[in-house]
Amino acid sequence: MKILITGAPGTGKTSISKILSQLMKIQYFDIKKIINSHPEVVERIECKEKIINPLLKKILAKELPKDYIIDTHLIEYAPKTDVTVILRCNPIILRKRLEKRKYSKKKIRENLEVEVIDYFTQLTKNDKVIEYNTSKNTIKENAEKIKNKIIKKEYSKGSIQWTKKEYFTMLK
Ligand SMILES: Nc1ncnc2c1ncn2[C@@H]1O[C@H](COP(=O)(O)OP(=O)(O)O)[C@@H](O)[C@H]1O
Ligand SMILES: [Mg+2]
Repeated sequence: MKILITGAPGTGKTSISKILSQLMKIQYFDIKKIINSHPEVVERIECKEKIINPLLKKILAKELPKDYIIDTHLIEYAPKTDVTVILRCNPIILRKRLEKRKYSKKKIRENLEVEVIDYFTQLTKNDKVIEYNTSKNTIKENAEKIKNKIIKKEYSKGSIQWTKKEYFTMLK
């Protein structure tokens, strides 16, 4: 099975993917590592050339096995997968997680905006989407719950929205 774990920075993609990989016995691939091992791709990402997408797609098709879990927020470069898991996080909790990472105010604001406007839900081309809120529980509990949803094909595209006014005022 091919699984994409995506979502805003800090939503838990890397922590959850690694545990999910053990639980499902599907290999975890770090898309960043693959990109970084191809300098021609890195250069093109840096100057945002349109050509990047087909080139990266070709490289991923060659280097990824039949079954994999990848985590990336670069959703426009992600390959087509059997299921896309979009991790979501309450903006107040997400802000705390990003502050812990010592991100600049500007970077925190940009990432919160991505979460509040449902960026990944809007951008995914996959209809088989599981949206999952990581604001609560432990990482392991969340990985287990996500595994069950994948097995049961419990899709929930568009089910999570942060509509409270206070979340929008955080973006000012
Ligand atoms: N319930 C939870 N699910 C996922 N991450 C959590 C949870 N609670 C706290 N965290 C913390 O949030 C951070 C998520 O970071 P990471 O997994 O690197 O996210 P991403 O790869 O999406 O940027 C980690 O420091 C993790 O310990
Ligand atoms: Mg990560």
